[in-house]
Amino acid sequence: MVYPARKHALKTLEKLVELLPGSDKAKPQIILLAGSVTPYRNDTDREMVFRQESNFNYLSDCNVPSSYLLLTVTPASLESSSLSLFIPKAEPADIMWSVPPPSLEAARQSYDAAYVGHTEELSKAISEALVSYPNAILHTLPSASPLFPELAAKYTELAKGSPTATVTDVYLLPALHKARLIKTAEEIELIRKANQISSRAHEVVMRVLGNGVRGLDRPKEAGVDRPLLPGEWLIEKEAEAEAIFVASCRREGAVHQAYLPIVAASTRASTLHYCCNDKEFAWGPVKPHDHENSDKLTAAGEHDLHPQVLLIDAGCEWDCYASDITRTMPVGNGGKFTPEARAIYELVLEMQKLSFQALKPGLHWDAIQLLCHRTLVQGFQRLGIFKNPNSPGSGSWNSEEAILASGVSSAFFPHGVGHSLGMDVHDVPSASKPAANTTIGKGLELGHEDFYTYLRLRLPLEEGMIVTVEPGCYFSPHLLAPVRDSRHIDHAVLKRYEAVGGIRIEDVVLITKDGHENLTTVRSDVEWIEGVCSGKL
Ligand code: GLY
Ligand code: MN
Ligand code: MN
Repeated sequence: MVYPARKHALKTLEKLVELLPGSDKAKPQIILLAGSVTPYRNDTDREMVFRQESNFNYLSDCNVPSSYLLLTVTPASLESSSLSLFIPKAEPADIMWSVPPPSLEAARQSYDAAYVGHTEELSKAISEALVSYPNAILHTLPSASPLFPELAAKYTELAKGSPTATVTDVYLLPALHKARLIKTAEEIELIRKANQISSRAHEVVMRVLGNGVRGLDRPKEAGVDRPLLPGEWLIEKEAEAEAIFVASCRREGAVHQAYLPIVAASTRASTLHYCCNDKEFAWGPVKPHDHENSDKLTAAGEHDLHPQVLLIDAGCEWDCYASDITRTMPVGNGGKFTPEARAIYELVLEMQKLSFQALKPGLHWDAIQLLCHRTLVQGFQRLGIFKNPNSPGSGSWNSEEAILASGVSSAFFPHGVGHSLGMDVHDVPSASKPAANTTIGKGLELGHEDFYTYLRLRLPLEEGMIVTVEPGCYFSPHLLAPVRDSRHIDHAVLKRYEAVGGIRIEDVVLITKDGHENLTTVRSDVEWIEGVCSGKL
Protein backbone atom coordinates (compact mmCIF):
# COMPACT_ATOMS: atom_id res chain seq x y z
CA MET A 1 0.00 0.00 0.00
CA VAL A 2 1.30 3.46 -0.89
CA TYR A 3 0.57 6.02 1.81
CA PRO A 4 -1.49 8.81 0.19
CA ALA A 5 0.49 11.81 1.48
CA ARG A 6 -0.26 13.72 -1.75
CA LYS A 7 -4.00 13.13 -1.34
CA HIS A 8 -3.73 14.29 2.28
CA ALA A 9 -1.94 17.48 1.17
CA LEU A 10 -4.76 18.23 -1.28
CA LYS A 11 -7.45 17.68 1.40
CA THR A 12 -5.55 19.90 3.83
CA LEU A 13 -5.08 22.67 1.28
CA GLU A 14 -8.78 22.61 0.41
CA LYS A 15 -9.69 23.00 4.09
CA LEU A 16 -7.03 25.70 4.52
CA VAL A 17 -8.43 27.78 1.67
CA GLU A 18 -11.97 27.34 3.08
CA LEU A 19 -10.80 28.72 6.43
CA LEU A 20 -8.87 31.71 5.08
CA PRO A 21 -10.52 35.12 4.98
CA GLY A 22 -11.72 36.45 1.58
CA SER A 23 -8.79 38.01 -0.25
CA ASP A 24 -6.23 35.60 1.26
CA LYS A 25 -7.88 32.64 -0.45
CA ALA A 26 -6.41 33.62 -3.82
CA LYS A 27 -2.83 33.94 -2.53
CA PRO A 28 -0.14 31.25 -2.89
CA GLN A 29 0.15 29.14 0.26
CA ILE A 30 3.31 27.71 1.80
CA ILE A 31 3.27 25.16 4.61
CA LEU A 32 6.39 24.73 6.74
CA LEU A 33 6.55 21.96 9.33
CA ALA A 34 9.27 20.61 11.59
CA GLY A 35 9.14 16.89 12.30
CA SER A 36 9.81 15.31 15.68
CA VAL A 37 13.36 15.02 16.94
CA THR A 38 14.70 12.00 18.81
CA PRO A 39 14.11 12.68 22.50
CA TYR A 40 16.84 12.03 25.03
CA ARG A 41 16.59 10.96 28.64
CA ASN A 42 17.28 13.99 30.83
CA ASP A 43 20.82 15.27 30.20
CA THR A 44 22.20 11.99 28.88
CA ASP A 45 22.90 10.72 25.38
CA ARG A 46 20.42 7.84 25.70
CA GLU A 47 17.68 7.97 23.09
CA MET A 48 14.06 7.54 24.04
CA VAL A 49 11.47 6.16 21.68
CA PHE A 50 10.91 8.25 18.53
CA ARG A 51 7.47 8.85 17.08
CA GLN A 52 6.82 11.19 14.20
CA GLU A 53 4.53 14.18 14.83
CA SER A 54 1.10 13.20 13.48
CA ASN A 55 0.58 16.12 11.10
CA PHE A 56 4.07 15.74 9.66
CA ASN A 57 3.39 12.08 9.06
CA TYR A 58 0.02 12.89 7.45
CA LEU A 59 1.55 15.19 4.85
CA SER A 60 4.74 13.26 4.12
CA ASP A 61 4.80 9.66 5.45
CA CYS A 62 8.39 10.54 6.42
CA ASN A 63 9.54 9.10 9.76
CA VAL A 64 13.12 10.37 9.70
CA PRO A 65 13.89 12.25 12.95
CA SER A 66 14.73 15.98 12.67
CA SER A 67 13.24 16.44 9.20
CA TYR A 68 11.33 19.39 7.74
CA LEU A 69 8.71 19.68 5.05
CA LEU A 70 7.87 22.57 2.75
CA LEU A 71 4.67 22.42 0.75
CA THR A 72 3.93 25.11 -1.84
CA VAL A 73 0.78 25.67 -3.88
CA THR A 74 -1.18 28.24 -5.81
CA PRO A 75 -4.93 28.19 -5.11
CA ALA A 76 -5.71 28.09 -8.84
CA SER A 77 -4.34 24.57 -8.93
CA LEU A 78 -4.36 22.87 -5.54
CA GLU A 79 -3.64 19.49 -7.18
CA SER A 80 -0.25 20.72 -8.31
CA SER A 81 1.12 21.30 -4.83
CA SER A 82 4.77 20.51 -4.47
CA LEU A 83 6.28 18.75 -1.44
CA SER A 84 9.94 19.20 -0.53
CA LEU A 85 11.47 17.15 2.27
CA PHE A 86 14.66 17.99 4.13
CA ILE A 87 16.32 15.22 6.11
CA PRO A 88 19.53 15.32 8.19
CA LYS A 89 22.83 14.14 6.78
CA ALA A 90 24.16 10.91 8.24
CA GLU A 91 27.07 11.81 10.55
CA PRO A 92 29.83 9.25 11.20
CA ALA A 93 28.80 9.08 14.87
CA ASP A 94 25.20 8.24 13.85
CA ILE A 95 26.47 5.31 11.88
CA MET A 96 28.45 4.03 14.81
CA TRP A 97 25.83 4.49 17.53
CA SER A 98 22.50 4.08 15.80
CA VAL A 99 20.66 3.63 12.55
CA PRO A 100 21.55 6.68 10.44
CA PRO A 101 19.05 8.70 8.39
CA PRO A 102 18.55 7.29 4.88
CA SER A 103 20.61 8.53 1.94
CA LEU A 104 18.92 11.08 -0.33
CA GLU A 105 18.54 8.37 -2.97
CA ALA A 106 16.83 6.00 -0.54
CA ALA A 107 14.56 8.78 0.75
CA ARG A 108 13.59 9.73 -2.82
CA GLN A 109 12.54 6.12 -3.39
CA SER A 110 10.54 5.97 -0.15
CA TYR A 111 8.65 9.26 -0.15
CA ASP A 112 6.37 10.82 -2.73
CA ALA A 113 8.14 14.20 -2.68
CA ALA A 114 9.05 16.46 -5.61
CA TYR A 115 12.36 17.24 -3.93
CA VAL A 116 14.41 15.62 -1.15
CA GLY A 117 17.43 17.44 0.20
CA HIS A 118 19.42 17.92 3.39
CA THR A 119 18.29 20.19 6.20
CA GLU A 120 21.15 22.60 5.44
CA GLU A 121 19.27 23.54 2.27
CA LEU A 122 16.04 24.50 4.03
CA SER A 123 16.72 28.25 4.47
CA LYS A 124 17.61 28.61 0.80
CA ALA A 125 14.52 26.64 -0.25
CA ILE A 126 12.24 28.88 1.86
CA SER A 127 13.83 32.03 0.40
CA GLU A 128 13.42 30.70 -3.13
CA ALA A 129 9.78 29.77 -2.49
CA LEU A 130 9.11 33.32 -1.24
CA VAL A 131 10.57 34.71 -4.47
CA SER A 132 8.71 32.23 -6.71
CA TYR A 133 5.42 32.85 -4.89
CA PRO A 134 5.12 36.59 -4.19
CA ASN A 135 2.34 37.50 -1.71
CA ALA A 136 2.47 33.99 -0.28
CA ILE A 137 1.08 33.14 3.15
CA LEU A 138 3.45 30.91 5.11
CA HIS A 139 1.56 28.62 7.48
CA THR A 140 3.01 26.87 10.52
CA LEU A 141 1.59 24.88 13.43
CA PRO A 142 1.06 26.93 16.62
CA SER A 143 4.41 28.50 17.41
CA ALA A 144 5.87 28.33 20.91
CA SER A 145 3.55 25.42 21.73
CA PRO A 146 5.02 22.50 23.66
CA LEU A 147 2.60 20.25 21.74
CA PHE A 148 4.51 20.47 18.45
CA PRO A 149 8.17 20.20 17.43
CA GLU A 150 9.94 23.52 17.67
CA LEU A 151 10.34 25.39 14.38
CA ALA A 152 13.38 27.64 14.75
CA ALA A 153 12.58 31.34 14.39
CA LYS A 154 15.35 31.72 11.77
CA TYR A 155 13.07 29.94 9.28
CA THR A 156 9.89 31.98 9.82
CA GLU A 157 11.93 35.18 9.98
CA LEU A 158 12.82 34.65 6.34
CA ALA A 159 9.16 35.24 5.52
CA LYS A 160 8.71 37.97 8.10
CA GLY A 161 11.60 39.78 6.39
CA SER A 162 9.96 39.52 2.98
CA PRO A 163 8.12 42.67 1.80
CA THR A 164 5.15 40.71 0.48
CA ALA A 165 4.82 37.45 2.43
CA THR A 166 2.90 36.96 5.66
CA VAL A 167 3.31 34.30 8.36
CA THR A 168 0.48 32.80 10.38
CA ASP A 169 -0.03 29.89 12.76
CA VAL A 170 -3.80 30.31 12.99
CA TYR A 171 -5.20 28.24 10.12
CA LEU A 172 -2.99 25.24 9.50
CA LEU A 173 -3.85 23.11 12.54
CA PRO A 174 -7.64 23.53 12.15
CA ALA A 175 -7.27 22.70 8.44
CA LEU A 176 -5.27 19.56 9.20
CA HIS A 177 -7.78 18.48 11.84
CA LYS A 178 -10.70 18.97 9.44
CA ALA A 179 -8.91 16.97 6.75
CA ARG A 180 -7.94 14.21 9.18
CA LEU A 181 -11.49 13.82 10.53
CA ILE A 182 -12.58 11.91 7.40
CA LYS A 183 -10.28 9.00 6.67
CA THR A 184 -8.87 7.95 3.30
CA ALA A 185 -9.14 4.27 2.30
CA GLU A 186 -5.46 3.76 3.10
CA GLU A 187 -5.85 5.22 6.58
CA ILE A 188 -8.80 2.90 7.23
CA GLU A 189 -6.61 -0.10 6.39
CA LEU A 190 -3.88 1.03 8.81
CA ILE A 191 -6.44 1.49 11.61
CA ARG A 192 -7.95 -1.90 10.75
CA LYS A 193 -4.52 -3.50 11.13
CA ALA A 194 -3.88 -1.79 14.49
CA ASN A 195 -7.26 -3.06 15.67
CA GLN A 196 -6.61 -6.61 14.53
CA ILE A 197 -3.29 -6.76 16.38
CA SER A 198 -4.80 -5.23 19.52
CA SER A 199 -7.85 -7.51 19.33
CA ARG A 200 -5.56 -10.54 19.33
CA ALA A 201 -3.62 -9.10 22.28
CA HIS A 202 -6.84 -8.75 24.30
CA GLU A 203 -7.70 -12.35 23.47
CA VAL A 204 -4.21 -13.53 24.45
CA VAL A 205 -4.64 -11.97 27.92
CA MET A 206 -8.01 -13.67 28.33
CA ARG A 207 -6.60 -17.02 27.21
CA VAL A 208 -3.70 -16.78 29.69
CA LEU A 209 -6.25 -16.00 32.43
CA GLY A 210 -8.18 -19.10 31.29
CA ASN A 211 -4.99 -21.19 31.42
CA GLY A 212 -4.53 -19.99 35.00
CA VAL A 213 -8.00 -21.24 35.92
CA ARG A 214 -7.08 -24.64 34.44
CA GLY A 215 -3.70 -24.62 36.21
CA LEU A 216 -1.83 -24.83 32.89
CA ASP A 217 0.42 -21.90 33.59
CA ARG A 218 2.44 -23.62 36.30
CA PRO A 219 5.86 -25.06 35.49
CA LYS A 220 5.66 -28.85 35.15
CA GLU A 221 8.57 -29.64 37.47
CA ALA A 222 8.00 -28.89 41.13
CA GLY A 223 10.29 -26.32 42.72
CA VAL A 224 11.85 -25.02 39.47
CA ASP A 225 14.60 -22.54 40.04
CA ARG A 226 14.58 -20.63 36.77
CA PRO A 227 12.65 -17.72 35.26
CA LEU A 228 9.22 -18.63 33.95
CA LEU A 229 8.98 -19.02 30.18
CA PRO A 230 6.30 -17.04 28.30
CA GLY A 231 3.97 -20.06 28.12
CA GLU A 232 4.19 -20.31 31.92
CA TRP A 233 3.58 -16.65 32.65
CA LEU A 234 0.89 -16.11 35.25
CA ILE A 235 -1.54 -13.24 35.38
CA GLU A 236 -2.10 -12.50 39.03
CA LYS A 237 -1.40 -8.80 38.94
CA GLU A 238 -2.06 -5.87 36.65
CA ALA A 239 1.57 -5.63 35.52
CA GLU A 240 1.49 -9.24 34.27
CA ALA A 241 -1.62 -8.57 32.18
CA GLU A 242 -0.04 -5.39 30.76
CA ALA A 243 3.19 -7.24 29.93
CA ILE A 244 1.33 -9.95 28.02
CA PHE A 245 -0.80 -7.43 26.12
CA VAL A 246 2.20 -5.35 25.08
CA ALA A 247 4.30 -8.44 24.26
CA SER A 248 1.57 -9.75 21.97
CA CYS A 249 1.42 -6.45 20.04
CA ARG A 250 5.19 -6.14 19.91
CA ARG A 251 5.76 -9.62 18.52
CA GLU A 252 3.33 -8.73 15.72
CA GLY A 253 5.55 -5.77 14.86
CA ALA A 254 3.71 -2.89 16.53
CA VAL A 255 6.34 -0.45 17.82
CA HIS A 256 4.17 1.78 19.98
CA GLN A 257 1.10 1.57 22.10
CA ALA A 258 -1.32 4.28 21.02
CA TYR A 259 -1.59 5.39 24.69
CA LEU A 260 -0.52 4.07 28.06
CA PRO A 261 -2.44 0.84 28.67
CA ILE A 262 -5.10 1.03 31.37
CA VAL A 263 -5.02 -2.27 33.28
CA ALA A 264 -7.24 -1.96 36.33
CA ALA A 265 -8.44 -4.82 38.49
CA SER A 266 -11.18 -4.80 41.09
CA THR A 267 -12.67 -1.42 42.03
CA ARG A 268 -9.72 0.38 40.42
CA ALA A 269 -11.66 -0.18 37.18
CA SER A 270 -13.69 2.89 38.16
CA THR A 271 -10.66 5.17 37.60
CA LEU A 272 -11.11 6.09 33.95
CA HIS A 273 -7.49 6.70 32.98
CA TYR A 274 -5.85 4.48 35.62
CA CYS A 275 -2.48 3.58 34.14
CA CYS A 276 -0.16 2.75 37.04
CA ASN A 277 -1.03 -0.94 36.53
CA ASP A 278 0.99 -1.86 39.61
CA LYS A 279 -1.39 -3.69 41.95
CA GLU A 280 -1.93 -7.36 42.58
CA PHE A 281 -5.36 -8.78 41.94
CA ALA A 282 -7.42 -8.80 45.11
CA TRP A 283 -6.97 -12.20 46.69
CA GLY A 284 -7.64 -13.96 49.93
CA PRO A 285 -10.64 -13.12 52.13
CA VAL A 286 -10.72 -9.42 51.25
CA LYS A 287 -13.69 -7.20 51.89
CA PRO A 288 -15.53 -5.84 48.83
CA HIS A 289 -13.95 -2.37 49.00
CA ASP A 290 -10.61 -3.48 50.27
CA HIS A 291 -7.49 -3.78 48.12
CA GLU A 292 -5.25 -4.93 50.96
CA ASN A 293 -4.64 -8.59 50.27
CA SER A 294 -4.34 -10.92 53.23
CA ASP A 295 -1.36 -13.22 53.54
CA LYS A 296 -3.47 -16.36 53.52
CA LEU A 297 -2.71 -18.82 50.72
CA THR A 298 -4.79 -21.82 49.73
CA ALA A 299 -3.76 -25.32 50.83
CA ALA A 300 -1.87 -25.58 47.49
CA GLY A 301 0.08 -22.44 48.39
CA GLU A 302 -1.75 -20.35 45.77
CA HIS A 303 -3.58 -17.06 45.84
CA ASP A 304 -7.30 -17.58 46.06
CA LEU A 305 -8.40 -14.73 43.79
CA HIS A 306 -11.36 -12.75 44.99
CA PRO A 307 -14.14 -12.49 42.36
CA GLN A 308 -13.40 -9.22 40.56
CA VAL A 309 -13.21 -7.64 37.13
CA LEU A 310 -10.10 -6.81 35.14
CA LEU A 311 -10.62 -3.81 32.85
CA ILE A 312 -8.05 -3.49 30.06
CA ASP A 313 -8.25 -0.41 27.85
CA ALA A 314 -5.31 -0.78 25.49
CA GLY A 315 -4.48 -0.55 21.82
CA CYS A 316 -1.35 -0.47 19.75
CA GLU A 317 -0.39 1.85 16.95
CA TRP A 318 0.40 0.64 13.44
CA ASP A 319 2.44 2.97 11.22
CA CYS A 320 1.28 5.99 13.26
CA TYR A 321 -2.41 4.88 13.33
CA ALA A 322 -4.16 4.04 16.59
CA SER A 323 -6.50 1.46 17.97
CA ASP A 324 -8.41 1.87 21.22
CA ILE A 325 -10.14 -1.20 22.65
CA THR A 326 -11.53 -1.95 26.09
CA ARG A 327 -12.52 -5.35 27.35
CA THR A 328 -13.62 -6.11 30.89
CA MET A 329 -13.11 -9.68 31.99
CA PRO A 330 -13.86 -11.79 35.05
CA VAL A 331 -11.06 -12.83 37.39
CA GLY A 332 -11.49 -15.26 40.28
CA ASN A 333 -14.83 -17.09 40.59
CA GLY A 334 -13.49 -19.67 38.10
CA GLY A 335 -13.34 -17.05 35.34
CA LYS A 336 -17.06 -16.19 35.57
CA PHE A 337 -18.62 -12.84 36.41
CA THR A 338 -20.46 -12.50 39.72
CA PRO A 339 -24.24 -12.04 39.20
CA GLU A 340 -23.86 -8.29 39.87
CA ALA A 341 -20.88 -7.88 37.52
CA ARG A 342 -22.69 -9.88 34.84
CA ALA A 343 -25.80 -7.70 35.13
CA ILE A 344 -23.77 -4.52 34.73
CA TYR A 345 -21.70 -6.06 31.91
CA GLU A 346 -24.86 -6.99 30.00
CA LEU A 347 -26.26 -3.50 30.51
CA VAL A 348 -23.10 -1.86 29.13
CA LEU A 349 -23.15 -4.29 26.21
CA GLU A 350 -26.77 -3.28 25.55
CA MET A 351 -25.75 0.41 25.60
CA GLN A 352 -23.13 -0.41 22.98
CA LYS A 353 -25.40 -2.64 20.87
CA LEU A 354 -28.17 -0.03 20.68
CA SER A 355 -25.54 2.58 19.74
CA PHE A 356 -24.28 0.36 16.92
CA GLN A 357 -27.82 -0.06 15.61
CA ALA A 358 -28.30 3.71 15.46
CA LEU A 359 -24.99 4.67 13.81
CA LYS A 360 -25.27 6.19 10.34
CA PRO A 361 -24.22 9.34 8.53
CA GLY A 362 -26.27 12.37 9.54
CA LEU A 363 -26.97 11.20 13.09
CA HIS A 364 -25.67 13.67 15.68
CA TRP A 365 -23.21 12.09 18.12
CA ASP A 366 -25.08 13.77 21.01
CA ALA A 367 -27.96 11.42 20.22
CA ILE A 368 -25.76 8.39 20.92
CA GLN A 369 -24.69 9.90 24.23
CA LEU A 370 -28.33 10.41 25.19
CA LEU A 371 -29.27 6.92 24.00
CA CYS A 372 -26.64 5.41 26.31
CA HIS A 373 -27.89 7.39 29.30
CA ARG A 374 -31.48 6.37 28.51
CA THR A 375 -30.45 2.71 28.25
CA LEU A 376 -28.54 2.95 31.53
CA VAL A 377 -31.54 4.53 33.31
CA GLN A 378 -33.87 1.82 32.00
CA GLY A 379 -31.37 -0.89 33.00
CA PHE A 380 -30.90 0.54 36.50
CA GLN A 381 -34.68 0.69 36.92
CA ARG A 382 -34.89 -3.00 35.95
CA LEU A 383 -32.13 -3.86 38.43
CA GLY A 384 -33.72 -1.72 41.15
CA ILE A 385 -30.70 0.60 41.52
CA PHE A 386 -32.93 3.44 40.31
CA LYS A 387 -36.48 3.55 41.60
CA ASN A 388 -39.34 3.53 39.15
CA PRO A 389 -42.74 5.21 39.45
CA ASN A 390 -44.29 1.96 40.72
CA SER A 391 -41.82 1.45 43.60
CA PRO A 392 -43.34 1.84 47.07
CA GLY A 393 -43.48 5.52 48.03
CA SER A 394 -42.49 6.51 44.53
CA GLY A 395 -44.23 8.55 41.85
CA SER A 396 -43.89 10.17 38.44
CA TRP A 397 -40.83 12.03 39.74
CA ASN A 398 -39.08 8.66 39.31
CA SER A 399 -40.13 8.26 35.68
CA GLU A 400 -37.42 7.50 33.14
CA GLU A 401 -37.69 11.06 31.79
CA ALA A 402 -37.50 12.62 35.28
CA ILE A 403 -34.40 10.59 36.15
CA LEU A 404 -32.78 11.53 32.83
CA ALA A 405 -33.58 15.21 33.41
CA SER A 406 -32.01 15.02 36.90
CA GLY A 407 -28.60 14.08 35.44
CA VAL A 408 -28.04 11.45 38.16
CA SER A 409 -26.92 8.85 35.59
CA SER A 410 -23.77 10.96 35.04
CA ALA A 411 -22.50 9.66 38.37
CA PHE A 412 -22.39 6.17 36.83
CA PHE A 413 -21.53 7.03 33.20
CA PRO A 414 -19.48 10.20 33.54
CA HIS A 415 -17.56 10.21 30.25
CA GLY A 416 -18.39 10.56 26.58
CA VAL A 417 -19.53 7.55 24.59
CA GLY A 418 -16.66 7.94 22.15
CA HIS A 419 -14.35 10.13 20.14
CA SER A 420 -12.75 10.41 16.75
CA LEU A 421 -9.75 8.10 16.35
CA GLY A 422 -6.95 8.31 13.78
CA MET A 423 -3.26 8.94 14.17
CA ASP A 424 -3.99 10.08 17.71
CA VAL A 425 -6.27 8.19 20.01
CA HIS A 426 -8.27 11.28 20.95
CA ASP A 427 -7.91 12.57 17.43
CA VAL A 428 -8.42 15.98 15.86
CA PRO A 429 -9.90 17.78 18.88
CA SER A 430 -10.40 21.14 17.15
CA ALA A 431 -12.48 19.53 14.40
CA SER A 432 -14.49 17.32 16.79
CA LYS A 433 -16.12 19.84 19.04
CA PRO A 434 -17.33 23.16 17.64
CA ALA A 435 -16.46 26.12 19.84
CA ALA A 436 -20.15 26.85 20.36
CA ASN A 437 -21.57 23.47 21.28
CA THR A 438 -24.28 22.34 18.94
CA THR A 439 -27.27 20.37 20.11
CA ILE A 440 -29.01 17.45 18.49
CA GLY A 441 -31.72 19.73 17.14
CA LYS A 442 -35.15 21.10 17.80
CA GLY A 443 -37.72 18.75 19.28
CA LEU A 444 -35.17 16.23 20.48
CA GLU A 445 -34.65 15.68 24.18
CA LEU A 446 -31.15 16.49 25.33
CA GLY A 447 -31.36 14.99 28.80
CA HIS A 448 -29.06 16.83 31.19
CA GLU A 449 -26.15 19.12 30.32
CA ASP A 450 -23.80 17.03 32.50
CA PHE A 451 -24.10 14.22 29.94
CA TYR A 452 -22.04 16.28 27.49
CA THR A 453 -19.30 17.69 29.74
CA TYR A 454 -16.68 15.19 28.66
CA LEU A 455 -18.06 14.29 25.23
CA ARG A 456 -15.13 14.71 22.83
CA LEU A 457 -17.17 14.54 19.62
CA ARG A 458 -20.16 16.83 19.09
CA LEU A 459 -20.98 16.59 15.41
CA PRO A 460 -23.30 14.80 13.03
CA LEU A 461 -21.61 11.61 11.82
CA GLU A 462 -20.19 11.49 8.29
CA GLU A 463 -19.19 8.59 6.08
CA GLY A 464 -15.46 7.94 6.52
CA MET A 465 -15.25 9.01 10.18
CA ILE A 466 -13.71 6.51 12.57
CA VAL A 467 -15.02 6.69 16.12
CA THR A 468 -14.89 4.66 19.30
CA VAL A 469 -18.10 3.42 20.90
CA GLU A 470 -17.23 2.98 24.56
CA PRO A 471 -20.11 3.06 27.01
CA GLY A 472 -19.26 2.30 30.62
CA CYS A 473 -20.79 2.01 34.06
CA TYR A 474 -18.78 2.73 37.19
CA PHE A 475 -19.23 2.73 40.94
CA SER A 476 -16.61 5.25 41.99
CA PRO A 477 -16.76 6.54 45.57
CA HIS A 478 -15.77 10.01 44.32
CA LEU A 479 -18.46 10.16 41.67
CA LEU A 480 -21.07 8.66 43.98
CA ALA A 481 -20.41 11.13 46.83
CA PRO A 482 -22.67 13.87 45.35
CA VAL A 483 -25.58 11.43 44.75
CA ARG A 484 -25.47 9.62 48.11
CA ASP A 485 -28.74 11.30 49.05
CA SER A 486 -30.41 11.08 45.64
CA ARG A 487 -34.09 10.17 45.95
CA HIS A 488 -33.88 8.36 42.60
CA ILE A 489 -31.49 5.72 43.96
CA ASP A 490 -32.36 2.71 46.09
CA HIS A 491 -29.23 2.95 48.20
CA ALA A 492 -29.49 -0.58 49.64
CA VAL A 493 -29.57 -2.06 46.13
CA LEU A 494 -26.73 0.20 44.97
CA LYS A 495 -24.55 -1.07 47.83
CA ARG A 496 -24.72 -4.60 46.37
CA TYR A 497 -23.30 -3.40 43.04
CA GLU A 498 -20.51 -1.15 44.26
CA ALA A 499 -17.96 -3.98 44.51
CA VAL A 500 -18.22 -4.41 40.71
CA GLY A 501 -16.03 -1.30 40.39
CA GLY A 502 -16.41 -0.53 36.71
CA ILE A 503 -17.22 -2.03 33.34
CA ARG A 504 -16.34 -0.49 29.98
CA ILE A 505 -16.61 -2.06 26.53
CA GLU A 506 -14.96 -0.18 23.68
CA ASP A 507 -14.80 -0.92 19.96
CA VAL A 508 -13.57 1.14 17.02
CA VAL A 509 -16.01 1.61 14.15
CA LEU A 510 -15.95 3.10 10.68
CA ILE A 511 -19.01 5.11 9.64
CA THR A 512 -20.10 3.77 6.27
CA LYS A 513 -22.64 4.99 3.70
CA ASP A 514 -25.44 2.99 5.33
CA GLY A 515 -24.32 2.44 8.90
CA HIS A 516 -21.05 1.26 10.37
CA GLU A 517 -18.35 -1.40 10.19
CA ASN A 518 -16.77 -2.64 13.41
CA LEU A 519 -12.97 -2.71 13.02
CA THR A 520 -12.47 -4.41 16.40
CA THR A 521 -12.43 -8.15 16.00
CA VAL A 522 -12.19 -9.49 19.56
CA ARG A 523 -15.59 -10.66 20.80
CA SER A 524 -17.33 -9.16 23.80
CA ASP A 525 -20.40 -11.35 24.42
CA VAL A 526 -20.61 -12.81 27.92
CA GLU A 527 -20.69 -16.42 26.77
CA TRP A 528 -17.40 -16.08 24.87
CA ILE A 529 -15.63 -13.90 27.45
CA GLU A 530 -16.52 -16.28 30.30
CA GLY A 531 -15.73 -19.31 28.14
CA VAL A 532 -12.23 -18.07 27.39
CA CYS A 533 -11.48 -16.60 30.84
CA SER A 534 -12.60 -19.82 32.54
CA GLY A 535 -10.38 -21.89 30.23
CA LYS A 536 -13.31 -23.74 28.67
CA LEU A 537 -13.04 -22.35 25.12
N1 GLY B 1 -8.16 4.97 26.04
C1 GLY B 1 -8.76 6.20 26.33
C2 GLY B 1 -10.11 6.26 25.81
O1 GLY B 1 -10.73 5.24 25.64
O2 GLY B 1 -10.64 7.27 25.47
MN1 MN C 1 -9.86 3.38 25.38
MN1 MN D 1 -11.48 5.66 23.65
